[in-house]
Amino acid sequence: MSAAWLSRLKQSLVAREAQGLLRRLHARGSRETELNLADNDYLALSKDPSVVAAAAAALKEWGASSSASPLVSGYTALHAALEKKLAAWHGYAHGIILNTGYAANAAVLGGLPREGDLVLADRLVHASMLSGIESSGAKLVRFPHNDLDTLEIKLIKAANYAGAVFVVTESVYSMDGDSPDLKRLSELRDRFGFCWVLDEAHATGWHGATGSGLQEEQGVRGAADIVVGTLGKALGSQGAYVLSRESAVREALINFSGEFIYSTYLAPSSAAAGLAAIQRVEEIGSERSALHALSHEWRAALGEAGFAVPAGHSPIIPVILGDAVRTVHFAQKLKEAGIRVSAIRPPTVPTGTGRLRISLRRGLTAADLKKFIKAMQEAAL
Ligand SMILES: Cc1ncc(COP(=O)(O)O)c(C=O)c1O
Repeated sequence: MSAAWLSRLKQSLVAREAQGLLRRLHARGSRETELNLADNDYLALSKDPSVVAAAAAALKEWGASSSASPLVSGYTALHAALEKKLAAWHGYAHGIILNTGYAANAAVLGGLPREGDLVLADRLVHASMLSGIESSGAKLVRFPHNDLDTLEIKLIKAANYAGAVFVVTESVYSMDGDSPDLKRLSELRDRFGFCWVLDEAHATGWHGATGSGLQEEQGVRGAADIVVGTLGKALGSQGAYVLSRESAVREALINFSGEFIYSTYLAPSSAAAGLAAIQRVEEIGSERSALHALSHEWRAALGEAGFAVPAGHSPIIPVILGDAVRTVHFAQKLKEAGIRVSAIRPPTVPTGTGRLRISLRRGLTAADLKKFIKAMQEAAL
């Protein structure tokens, strides 16, 4: 190992620390002692008895691993059942499971666009989407967050583009909890004929009459050409999926995606947990309006306490605090009060927009909200 390289590596970490941006791992225990406003288990399904029982039964039947990549022997009847279920639920003809949402986005956007194509992406799309686009060789043009007027202007300019045009958005943005107008995106898609890739990672489970996501809630179920979703958030498991109307998308991922081909496939128990979770999401449909009311209530309480937060009813509430040091101070004070929240800093979010990312979950009580607001007010002193 070269000493110069090692010194360069260490200097990069020192520089990160000096900016207040160094990240460290903290191993948590299995017993929850804090009020958890940090993870993405929005429906508390990761500990739901029927989800856990389904995973445990699959562990007994199939063992702890798929033991091979999918084209070898890792693809099981559980994966096949899950991809069918997911596709039907979201209104698509075809689905394929990938190991993570990161891999799914990297595979779709790294493999489907090519050099000579144009990808128009919202300024705040997830790192996994950007990573894919950058590796595809296609031209990347970003439009301001949720600004569909600017997107439309860029589409008009690209009307005679020789290559294929892709538009990439999320339905609920992971760090802002806000959404684009999917109906308008769907109309733009019909007018301009681009390939619309939509990441529903944070919407599935929380939005839509049957919980499939924001396309369902906004009345445009099945409108995007390609949907990426993950099992690792509201569905309480792990793994991810890609859905499409065209079988060629699924076939292309199976044939050309390194993320799919060259990796031990998702454990069958995770697929079983995902299947059980979808059933639970459908069963708890009548609670969905109460979840949206919870989101309104927490936002209103934050506003009354002097913290400006955007309106909305998604499970993610950003409390923008500005610089990284102030953000970490708030997270630390909340931790001391027994509340776990994530302090999100650059480069995950743009400079100067450090924030607490409040992640709501089914089962939060009025007492939890009171405790949280009190801790926020004390942190602000
Ligand atoms: C919008 C979005 N897409 C994809 C992912 C990645 O999903 P996974 O955690 O399954 O890798 C995330 C994770 O944070 C995300 O926020």
